[in-house]
Amino acid sequence: MLNFNFHRPTDFYFGKGQENSAGEICKKYGGSRVLVHYGSSSAIKSGLIDRVTASLEHSGIKVIKLGGVQPNPMDTLVYEGIELCRRENVDMILAVGGGSVIDSAKAIALGVHYDGDFWDLFAKIAVPTQSLPVGSVLTIAAAGSEGSTSAVISHYENGVLKKKGLNTQLNVPKFAIMNPELTMTLPAFQTACGACDIMCHVMERYFTNTQDVLLTDELCEAVLRTMKVMLPRVIKDPHDYEARANIMWAGTLAHNNMCGVDREQDWASHHLEHELSALYDCAHGAGLAVITPAWMEYVMSHNVMRFARFAVNVFGCQMNYEDPKTTALEGIQALRRLWGEAGLPLNFEQLGARKEDIPTLVANIGQDNHTEGHFMVLDKKQITRVFEMAADYKV
Ligand code: NZQ
Ligand code: ZN
Repeated sequence: MLNFNFHRPTDFYFGKGQENSAGEICKKYGGSRVLVHYGSSSAIKSGLIDRVTASLEHSGIKVIKLGGVQPNPMDTLVYEGIELCRRENVDMILAVGGGSVIDSAKAIALGVHYDGDFWDLFAKIAVPTQSLPVGSVLTIAAAGSEGSTSAVISHYENGVLKKKGLNTQLNVPKFAIMNPELTMTLPAFQTACGACDIMCHVMERYFTNTQDVLLTDELCEAVLRTMKVMLPRVIKDPHDYEARANIMWAGTLAHNNMCGVDREQDWASHHLEHELSALYDCAHGAGLAVITPAWMEYVMSHNVMRFARFAVNVFGCQMNYEDPKTTALEGIQALRRLWGEAGLPLNFEQLGARKEDIPTLVANIGQDNHTEGHFMVLDKKQITRVFEMAADYKV
């Protein structure tokens, strides 16, 4: 087990109706002039923005609004948000939405206190030292940003759109309001994308070279098994509250690092996916559904027993002691079946990606000597192979 420091001070308000206390909660954390940040339409259509605004105003809070965050959020709205917060003396940001809105809020919160161009922080030219407090009303179980240290923003670099993540303790939100009912308006495809992202956050941690981390291995498997049971339930019945609730909390546990704090983590699949969503503007979870199983097949030989264990403990596959590779492959196929039946793409064609673009995807990921991953370190040739396997998979 590796040494670690684990501090996640987010206050979670979970369950039905919690968003109606948004005003009280913001006040508790010192908000008096709050920027309510949201996406393009869902939270307006559902009346959630009106309800949250009413709750804030009822608590005597001045509300400033900034909507329009797009999935795979851009830096342009972050600049606008920083200006707005400074002009209006905003002292807290309340993100109402999913990972994209929360990440945009985190970037604005960091940028307000930074003297130069906020992108310096994401480009790692400067280190953030201060941030506005951020809270969220979560409307999709997926990215885990409501309890994570990271934010991911897109930005044009020499004409190429790049997605960059910034990890800092300052990004950990002060609170998260999580009512599973708010996720019932999600289209099935977005629900499935979110579920896939949740599972991948666990798998990025589960496939590790760190030995003797039984407790977190078991936590990872519990989250994955929960997702295996709950995803088909929620696809069948979008109003299944208990399934929505289990998935929502799984999303937080999957990415607040509870399940991976003591180990070396991989993250190659995520970084390869970020190239797909930068180039095609696809949903992050959809890109992961295509990349992750291909990555699993490619790296499996590095530790076949680990993949066989995944197959047995998560999907209930029968262990073949004479040929564990068969078991390992069965586990990967079971994962693809789960995701395919939930409506997720499983190859480039279904995602809307093109095999001809692989050289561009690989060029965009970094310099010639760039590597990805830790479970098995992949050079650019190997990264190319993973993309090719993802492209060629026959559904
Ligand atoms: O913009 P609106 O109209 O709200 O529509 C959104 C959006 O189109 C819609 N939606 C959200 N809640 C809804 C709803 N539609 C109906 N009913 C609701 N209740 O869903 C779409 C997707 O929203 P988005 O916020 O983009 O989803 P997600 O939470 O998956 O976030 C994805 C972003 O998070 C980043 C991804 O790269 C991507 O940019 N990630 C952030 C991480 C973090 N900060 O820790 C980690 C992740 O690995 C990930 O990289
Ligand atoms: Zn993710």
